[in-house]
Amino acid sequence: MKGGGSDAAKERAGESAAEEIRDGMVVGLGTGSTTAYAIRRLGTRVDAGLDIRGIPTSLQARTLAQEVGIPLTTLDEATPDVAIDGADQVAGWDLVKGGGAAHAREKIVDTAADRFLVVVDPSKEADSLDHPVPIEVLAAARRTVARRVQQLGGDPTLRSATRKDGPVVTDNGNLVLDCEFGTISDPASLAVRLSSVPGVVEHGLFVDCADEIHVGTEEDVRVERR
Ligand code: A5P
Repeated sequence: MKGGGSDAAKERAGESAAEEIRDGMVVGLGTGSTTAYAIRRLGTRVDAGLDIRGIPTSLQARTLAQEVGIPLTTLDEATPDVAIDGADQVAGWDLVKGGGAAHAREKIVDTAADRFLVVVDPSKEADSLDHPVPIEVLAAARRTVARRVQQLGGDPTLRSATRKDGPVVTDNGNLVLDCEFGTISDPASLAVRLSSVPGVVEHGLFVDCADEIHVGTEEDVRVERR
């Protein structure tokens, strides 16, 4: 499920976004290998005196943030000024996320932030979205949701764990269907349809919610703002 970008490109993207964070900010901390570079950079800046609080989007993000010394808070106590998060595919300001099965909490935190900074390498860029869409589902609803996805033109596959027998279980205790739709001509419409299926906890289509895209390369970083 993961893109094939280089570590150097991911690092440039993550660090570029981390440099935008200022004293006093509450920062949504996304999940995945690219955001991990941003979290590590923020940890270094906290060591040097930066005063921020982070809101993690997964156990992975929480653990890393604690390791590097970023003080944490929750959505009960604070609203994020900025969120930094990766993506599995980017087309314009639309994203597919959820390669790490964290997209439910990511969507809550990323869309709550005043600004959402996406960090990717060039392998994630596309003209239109055609990456399989992860859908987090209640276990009891996996078959009914899969049937509805098929009626919507998708091909669902239950995500299997790699070092555990059986399916991936999310941080929220649910399962994930990876749903192939081919080229998604109208992401907004598909997003609404998927959200309305009973048993769907959250899907990985993030439509029109990015504010900046930081694309790292081997040599440089390109930032698109709107
Ligand atoms: C986590 O569920 C995902 O949404 C990640 O943010 C996404 O898969 C990007 O991860 P990488 O930066 O590791 O490619």
